[in-house]
Amino acid sequence: MSDTSKTATLTIGDSSYELPIYTPTAGPDVIDIRKLYSQAGVFTYDPGFTSTAACDSTITFIDGDKGELLHRGYPIDQLAEKSHYLEVCFLLLYGYLPKASELEQFERTITQHTMIHEQMHNFFRGFRRDAHPMATMVGVVGAMSAFYHDSTDINNPLEREIASHRLIAKMPTIAAMAYKYSIGQPFVYPRNDLDYAANFLHMCFAVPAEQYQVDPILARAMDRIFTLHADHEQNASTSTVRLASSSGANPFACIAAGIACLWGPAHGGANQACLEMLKEIGTPDRIPEYIARAKDKNDPFRLMGFGHRVYKNFDPRATVMKQSADEVLELMGVENNPILATAKELEQAALADPYFAEKKLFPNVDFYSGIILEAMGFPTSMFTPVFALSRTVGWISQWKEQLADPQMKIGRPRQLYQGETMRDYVDIEKR
Ligand code: SDX
Repeated sequence: MSDTSKTATLTIGDSSYELPIYTPTAGPDVIDIRKLYSQAGVFTYDPGFTSTAACDSTITFIDGDKGELLHRGYPIDQLAEKSHYLEVCFLLLYGYLPKASELEQFERTITQHTMIHEQMHNFFRGFRRDAHPMATMVGVVGAMSAFYHDSTDINNPLEREIASHRLIAKMPTIAAMAYKYSIGQPFVYPRNDLDYAANFLHMCFAVPAEQYQVDPILARAMDRIFTLHADHEQNASTSTVRLASSSGANPFACIAAGIACLWGPAHGGANQACLEMLKEIGTPDRIPEYIARAKDKNDPFRLMGFGHRVYKNFDPRATVMKQSADEVLELMGVENNPILATAKELEQAALADPYFAEKKLFPNVDFYSGIILEAMGFPTSMFTPVFALSRTVGWISQWKEQLADPQMKIGRPRQLYQGETMRDYVDIEKR
């Protein structure tokens, strides 16, 4: 823990309490309230964790006002431009940019873990064909703990390492199999001669009946989408993984919990919800109607792909994603895609509207990712599985960091109880 010379004084009635203040390497100071309940007999109250630091971390830093996102100190726009996903995975996992030999070894290790146990194919066949791929992924990833017993002991560093590699390597295979199963096509095995992103596209779009050549521009755009979604500090799904891990649950169970949380439309499910919203809006002339609905307090409708708990000016990932969207749509000859036209008009209309400026609402990472994925040929149901695939390295890196933290305790929040106080049971004949 950093310098603890600063303190905050909390006064309750006639009593005062000195609470240590820690200064981070970047971001706001934090007040240590761990002893508050034992000293003052009170809880703090922060249901959405808007003002709560739940852990120490050295992995990702976000400055919401500056629109800054750093992975181990490196800005996301530089990583998206100059690095590639597996190198970013190494950086997130080990904390530094690898030498060429280290990267080559890491990529070889991941490549050699991409197949799943053949028996696991039966899991897919137990689902309905029209099951949402996220439901399949939650089930199959959780079931990995029923197969990979030699990498579930969280107290064994080697088993933690193997589990990390297996999850990063197998997630694209599982996501592609979920997709193939949903469209009634045969599974396509991973190929060791393809890089991570090309392999995923091949497993999704190749068919036994003909050769499938992965377009390098699409593979680069896919890799960039993976990189832009790799990690994002203590977001809802990462916090879910940390909380599950704090009980000692095995890595596959923890990641399955993260996938389940990510699925929600307020979180990773927003890319699917955003594209469905753009399709519902249809043409730019209907944008004012939806802007009005988003501003109407009596209408639960929200502009999907807009707003963020932390970013209050712009999401740096959306900026990069927007450039990729233009590249992919031009390549696919759909630069005149009506959905993209509606998206760009909606973005302009929202950014020009005082309501959104005042609420600091602007496109987030999910606003353009869906447009790219649709242009690549993915159905909307595959958008969040791609996000889950990308975020696996972030979940795993944060999981490893928490297990190595000597301060780690089981997460167990308290509550502001608003229910009935003690009362006696009433027999049914007296009610
Ligand atoms: C991701 O945390 C992460 O880092 C997540 C993520 C990651 O990489 O892990 O970045 C990925 O989840 C991105 C966010 C994707 N979700 C969406 O696009 C769904 C639409 N956005 C919202 O639901 C919302 O903006 C959240 C959930 C993203 C953030 O919600 P907050 O921070 O809890 O803010 P809030 O709900 O308290 O809203 C503040 C105000 C409210 O108005 P008031 O009650 O103050 O009058 O802004 C309004 C909201 O009604 N508002 C919106 C809005 N988002 C917030 N109004 C219209 N449209 C929206 N999208």
